[in-house]
Amino acid sequence: MKVLLTGANGFVGSHILDKLCARGLATEVLLRPASNQRFIQAHLPRLEVRVGSLSDPQSLDAALQDVTHVIHCAGCTKALRKSEFYEVNQAGTRNVVEAVNRQQGRIQRLVHLSSLAAGGPASPDQPARENDLPHPVSEYGRSKLAGERELHGACKTEYVILRPPAVYGPRDEAFLPLFKAVKAHILPRFGGGRQTLSLVFAEDLAEAVTTCLTHPAAAGKTFYVASGEVTTAHAVAGEIAGQMKTWTLPLSLPTVALWPLCCLQETISWLTRRPGVLSRQKYAELRAPGWVCDPTRLRQEVGFVDGTTLKNGIAKTLAWYRQAGWL
Ligand SMILES: NC(=O)c1ccc[n+]([C@@H]2O[C@H](COP(=O)([O-])OP(=O)(O)OC[C@H]3O[C@@H](n4cnc5c(N)ncnc54)[C@H](OP(=O)(O)O)[C@@H]3O)[C@@H](O)[C@H]2O)c1
Repeated sequence: MKVLLTGANGFVGSHILDKLCARGLATEVLLRPASNQRFIQAHLPRLEVRVGSLSDPQSLDAALQDVTHVIHCAGCTKALRKSEFYEVNQAGTRNVVEAVNRQQGRIQRLVHLSSLAAGGPASPDQPARENDLPHPVSEYGRSKLAGERELHGACKTEYVILRPPAVYGPRDEAFLPLFKAVKAHILPRFGGGRQTLSLVFAEDLAEAVTTCLTHPAAAGKTFYVASGEVTTAHAVAGEIAGQMKTWTLPLSLPTVALWPLCCLQETISWLTRRPGVLSRQKYAELRAPGWVCDPTRLRQEVGFVDGTTLKNGIAKTLAWYRQAGWL
């Protein structure tokens, strides 16, 4: 068994790589020439590195030559242009599927990282389930759904689609501003802090990904991968404040106040040519009442155990941010 992992140097991919290496699985990674390797330095001596890109089918063919399993984690989560989401998340996935098909049955399984954003928002009383009709609200979500559709009907190899909600943990930059706000004694509360959230700790997601690589019951299925705990951004900030043992002042703002912030960051992104977490398309996700999914299918059919409580996950994340000098 030999695995090709795309997106290995990113936040989620680096945790999957940790897990593959811990399991002693022979692994190749696909990196672009300019990919930042800071999170995977320790593994590089034991890895085969294939230089290529999702937009370069020849590089995908070369990378797939001697592997038996593929984890397609590479994706675009923030972009300057709407079309970038589709170039990477849809066309890039199509290129991976076509390259896998060209291996004529030698690849035994493809695990594809999608997102709850592809399914769309949902609340705790009706959490997103795998058979629900998808209703993504952002360009990111629509592009991830389009990526999933590139597998259905076209992928000739057994495949598994995983849909995590927001992922947090060491190396994550998306939750870092919340930790920084708390450190600055601000407890942000948008829209009354009522947006409900499912989350998954990065190490737990990586465990689910590697399990789905071979688990017989996972074949051909889509799964939500999340902790069973449902929370809110406000409660997460409260947990961070508790663990930092710091005082905070609640900053209550209507959700609509996020719109100018999104516009401002989008303008800064344009000027610096670096896409940021906030943008106008992200606003559609931020104003949704909830992002809650039901991980029961993964639990029952694959035996997924969400080992990390929010409390422990925040503790590990905080310790890592501090040690890395990010906070
Ligand atoms: N983070 C979350 O909360 C979350 C939630 C749900 C689903 N996901 C999914 O998880 C996956 C990883 O997300 P992440 O948060 O880890 O993002 P990330 O840190 O930005 O990593 C993205 C990875 O994809 C690679 N990539 C992007 N475009 C590529 C291309 N054209 N060719 C080859 N590689 C390319 C990047 O390589 P470079 O370094 O070279 O750019 C990087 O390794 C994505 O598919 C995302 O949709 C993430």
